[in-house]
Amino acid sequence: MGFRSSPSLKDSNAPRRLRFLLAIFLAVTLVLGLAVTPYQRNSVYPDLYEASISELQTGLSRGDFSSVDLVRAYIDRIEEVNRRGPALHAVLEVSPRALAYAAALDAERTSGFTRGPLHGIPILVKDNIATRFEDGMNTTAGSYALLGSVVPRDAPVVAKLREAGAILLGKAALSEWSHARGRLPMGWSGRGGQCYGAYYPNQSPCGSSSGSGVATSIGLTAASLGTETDGSITCPSALNNIVGIKPTVGLTSRNGVIPISEHQDTVGPMARSVADAAIVLSVIAGKDARDNYTSAQPDFLPDYVAALRKDALQGARIGVPRKLLRSRISDDDEAQFFKSLEWGIQKLKELGATIVDPADLPSSEEFFVSKNESLVTSGDMLQNLNDYFASLLHSPTGVRTVEDLIAFNAKHPDLEGPATYEDQMFLEEILTAKRNASYYEAIAFDKMLGGSNGIDAALKEHNLDALLSIPISWGTSAAAIVGYPVVTVPLSFYPDDTQPVKSDPQWEVFFPAPGIPMGISFIGTAFSEERLIGLAYAFEQGTQVRLTRKAYKQAIPKTQLIDVVGCEWWWICASRQMWFRPLSLVNRLLRSLKE
Ligand SMILES: *[C@@H]1O[C@H](CO)[C@@H](O)[C@H](O)[C@H]1NC(C)=O
Ligand SMILES: *[C@@H]1O[C@H](CO)[C@@H](O)[C@H](O)[C@H]1NC(C)=O
Ligand SMILES: *[C@@H]1O[C@H](CO)[C@@H](O)[C@H](O)[C@H]1NC(C)=O
Ligand SMILES: *[C@@H]1O[C@H](CO)[C@@H](O)[C@H](O)[C@H]1NC(C)=O
Repeated sequence: MGFRSSPSLKDSNAPRRLRFLLAIFLAVTLVLGLAVTPYQRNSVYPDLYEASISELQTGLSRGDFSSVDLVRAYIDRIEEVNRRGPALHAVLEVSPRALAYAAALDAERTSGFTRGPLHGIPILVKDNIATRFEDGMNTTAGSYALLGSVVPRDAPVVAKLREAGAILLGKAALSEWSHARGRLPMGWSGRGGQCYGAYYPNQSPCGSSSGSGVATSIGLTAASLGTETDGSITCPSALNNIVGIKPTVGLTSRNGVIPISEHQDTVGPMARSVADAAIVLSVIAGKDARDNYTSAQPDFLPDYVAALRKDALQGARIGVPRKLLRSRISDDDEAQFFKSLEWGIQKLKELGATIVDPADLPSSEEFFVSKNESLVTSGDMLQNLNDYFASLLHSPTGVRTVEDLIAFNAKHPDLEGPATYEDQMFLEEILTAKRNASYYEAIAFDKMLGGSNGIDAALKEHNLDALLSIPISWGTSAAAIVGYPVVTVPLSFYPDDTQPVKSDPQWEVFFPAPGIPMGISFIGTAFSEERLIGLAYAFEQGTQVRLTRKAYKQAIPKTQLIDVVGCEWWWICASRQMWFRPLSLVNRLLRSLKE
């Protein structure tokens, strides 16, 4: 082995060569980093915790990032907090086709065709809203009983999103069967486990659109869809610091949505701003032959985006239905809540509204003792849910009726039971529900209690544009029983000295607790969304509450667009990450010096 080169010779050359290689590498990555860093004027990607649909749309159209990047970033953010870390359990499934759809929509954009404000924007939908079988996602209302079931088609609201270019990102967790199964914690489902809000460890997310609220609140998606029968969009919107629009029953189709009650169910947007929610509502609203309640809507719907006027509160008349508000909230909670509400009322005045206080519903007293709502929803649910089961093309578990469902749950406590007690109470109750004379009478009473002797009466008596409400407890029911619209926006947060309270002694789920958000709602008459959106927007813009407090640290995902842009080629990605952060820091520094 005489030809082995001498070690001393090799050593003397190595450091120089290494330095040379390093210099080459740095130069190449710098050039690449600069070359592939799209020349964003301000050189920063929008923070996905808050990014609005229009900001995302701007970045997409400038070519700063693609929809593939956006989907990848959201998927990584979901990975960070959904099962790992704070384990928020907000997302049940991510679409196996989301990246493919994103690529197709990117290609469309490149070829010069964009479908509108939702082109290439990822949206999450509550798991009771059907997505077509080809997408590979399940539609289960959170229950193993429907796992693998085959829906006939997209729910029309989903088809509309798709048509508008939205990317169906995945399915959001929910209170199982939209909280119509039994006494179970808000946000719990067999498939999802317990969903938590992101503002306090083990926060109650409210429900039933829990995952839609939580995922939207910390930017696991651009926006989401929820559904409401009584409080299920507005309450999780409020407790997760976002905006929720509960549309008039009949503005959005419920076909393909796992139902509770045809008289009260409605599908609506949940988003980080009124503007985003208005964009989504414009897309999903419309008539549908498969849901004849939509025939009641006006032939020409207003432009909800055009309703976004900062001065919409100027000269508006808003009533405070005190009796509706002072009920069912616990005493401690009530004091804090009313402090925030008074602040909100003061702001409304400053923003130009005339407040009529009190402006009570004439039906208030009857309303609190009325059992008419449960007569209607029970009579509906047995029929409506059985109809949904019948519409399925296939049900691998064999569950085809409410009775089957109850038997399935009882037989699979491993899958379907934290199930301590009364966990099927509501399902068992509806088995004996009848659409008899009392049911039809109750429908008529509800129209009166909520409408002609309720909301409409108060609006008319005081010549009001809207009523204020709170999106928890009774605050949602007057609008629920008559199918009227509600728009909820962030109002405030429980202060740091709030004593954390278990929302049920049996479960480690807290509400209230320090930092948990509160919301304020605007209620109007049928199809008055345009007006309510204007009022809510003016309040939101005039108060800017949402970002005054953020989720707790571990619940804030760290992945941003910078971490994924260009990462289909690892070397581009590596170069970017190496140079982009320092460059954008310098940039930010320069800008702050200029200001
Ligand atoms: C839907 O459910 C099936 C089981 O029936 C499962 O194999 C599949 O992974 C689920 N889809 C997603 C996207 O999780
Ligand atoms: C919808 O159709 C059913 C019968 O199929 C009818 O009883 C009901 O009144 C219709 N509803 C509306 C709002 O048109
Ligand atoms: C339904 O509402 C009417 C009107 O307030 C009331 O008289 C009746 O007792 C209510 N029915 C039930 C079952 O609560
Ligand atoms: C209708 O059915 C309900 C049970 O769902 C029952 O409480 C009520 O008494 C019945 N009414 C009539 C008129 O039979």
